[in-house]
Amino acid sequence: TRHLLGIKDLTPNDIELIMATAREFKEVINRPIKKVPSLRDVTIANVFFENSTRTRLSFELAEKRLSADTLNFSASGSSVKKGETLLDTVNNILAMKVDMIVMRHASPGAPHFLSKHISANIVNAGDGTHEHPTQALLDSFSMREKLGGDLTGKKIAIIGDILHSRVALSNIFALKKQGAEVTLCGPSTLIPRYVTDLGVKVSHDVKKTLAWCDVANVLRIQLERQQIKYFPSLREYSLYFGINKKMLDDLNKEIVIMHPGPINRGVELSSDAADSQHSIILDQVENGVAVRMAVLYLLAGQN
Ligand code: CP
Repeated sequence: TRHLLGIKDLTPNDIELIMATAREFKEVINRPIKKVPSLRDVTIANVFFENSTRTRLSFELAEKRLSADTLNFSASGSSVKKGETLLDTVNNILAMKVDMIVMRHASPGAPHFLSKHISANIVNAGDGTHEHPTQALLDSFSMREKLGGDLTGKKIAIIGDILHSRVALSNIFALKKQGAEVTLCGPSTLIPRYVTDLGVKVSHDVKKTLAWCDVANVLRIQLERQQIKYFPSLREYSLYFGINKKMLDDLNKEIVIMHPGPINRGVELSSDAADSQHSIILDQVENGVAVRMAVLYLLAGQN
């Protein structure tokens, strides 16, 4: 494939190849000389129509570590504000001889639409509530690294606002393709009905879910995407679904806590849980660079 639009399109073998390539790049970026010349003749534009800290910086650093030339575009402050369309914006960027587009957009399907109209490689860096494929890949990479093997038969919980989360959907696809067991946990108002068709279990009991799982991937409540008045309130959510360190310690077992960021501290995760020995949240960020290097390198190799 010439694009990475979603995990849905990947085969289990594609995921294995990305994991193996990312392992090699993780070694590279831990050496004193962190750079390789692999994408020396490639120009990549990071085109962000939505806010980002981790994903944008991680892609930019991955591109620099691969010796690519990079351009960074944010919709705020651009001529999008004067009414320029998505396609015109991207075609103007491509006219400057850009080879690859990394794009984040608020509309589900925006990178799929673009892929029908442009010839450059496209990497989806998050399209609305749909997919965030590189987040799921870095999450799988981090789980494998922490659990010390592949994810076959591993018990993974995804806890939080599943309804509005592209991270949840990409993780579900990625985890099922790797043979993991997946339970989604949250209030029924934030778990869409279609998820049961994806081969996952659903729970509304956070303590039971934590007792069951090897890894809990905890997600933020996405107030900015909610079209109807939110139920439950943040206070209620925190009371019934919030995770704190005492709950984790009381399990008396190894448990891995993950979060894609940004964390709403004190809502889905208390600070003492987020910063505890159970958490691998900053390892996820570290691994994101290696995983994105792998994705860009493999896509460039298709050209
Ligand atoms: N995890 C993630 O996508 O974070 P950003 O929105 O900061 O990129």
